[in-house]
Amino acid sequence: MKYNLGCGRKVYADWINVDGFDTRADVLADVRVVGSWSTRGQADQIRMIHFLEHLTQAEGCQLLEEIHAFVLKDTGTIEIEMPCRTKCLALAAFDQTSKPDWNVAPFSGVAGIVGDRVGMRDEWFKWMVEHADHITKFARLKMFDEILREYPEWQQVGDVHQYVWDTQELVAAMGAMGYVTRIESPQTHGKRSHRDMRVVAIKAEP
Ligand SMILES: C[S@@+](CC[C@H](N)C(=O)[O-])C[C@H]1O[C@@H](n2cnc3c(N)ncnc32)[C@H](O)[C@@H]1O
Repeated sequence: MKYNLGCGRKVYADWINVDGFDTRADVLADVRVVGSWSTRGQADQIRMIHFLEHLTQAEGCQLLEEIHAFVLKDTGTIEIEMPCRTKCLALAAFDQTSKPDWNVAPFSGVAGIVGDRVGMRDEWFKWMVEHADHITKFARLKMFDEILREYPEWQQVGDVHQYVWDTQELVAAMGAMGYVTRIESPQTHGKRSHRDMRVVAIKAEP
């Protein structure tokens, strides 16, 4: 069995596509509740593409532990792609505000930390352009808080990134859970390979 968790509109044939909000999913469920979408010990492959950052760190750890203990076969693999915190912060601090583009610094870095909401991104973009003259390197790193204060509705689950992992931090956490991990490059998703990570893991050493 193959599960695509937090599928959004990227629904794959021959996979069980799970999402908590997007009705294109095969299973509408909260991924954090493992029993609501999985069959015990039956998963050959799990994919989380730009999903894990939508959970808090504690929720992400619990999900990865439960997947390891209850969902994956011993030969099962998990692929995770999402922004890397260290890369995002470095990009967000980059001094270039004249040509805003979500795929280049500093905007790509800020988007990696904050996330976005369909329909709101233009508003947020405008905010950044209007404030560009006042945005120092340091202030830009603090932008996350300011944006959320101005647009509190972005804090809804599914819209805003709850916790942005660092690549090495994720690898260490998964190693402690028993996964055998490797960092791969490039990612399969999007145009921001300079900002994102791809970590692939097997449940146990073959
Ligand atoms: C940024 S989208 C990624 C979509 C897709 N995987 C892709 O690569 O484009 C994150 C998805 O996670 C879903 N999501 C967020 N929190 C969730 C939760 N607790 N349970 C299930 N789905 C959730 C959202 O509805 C959204 O579709």
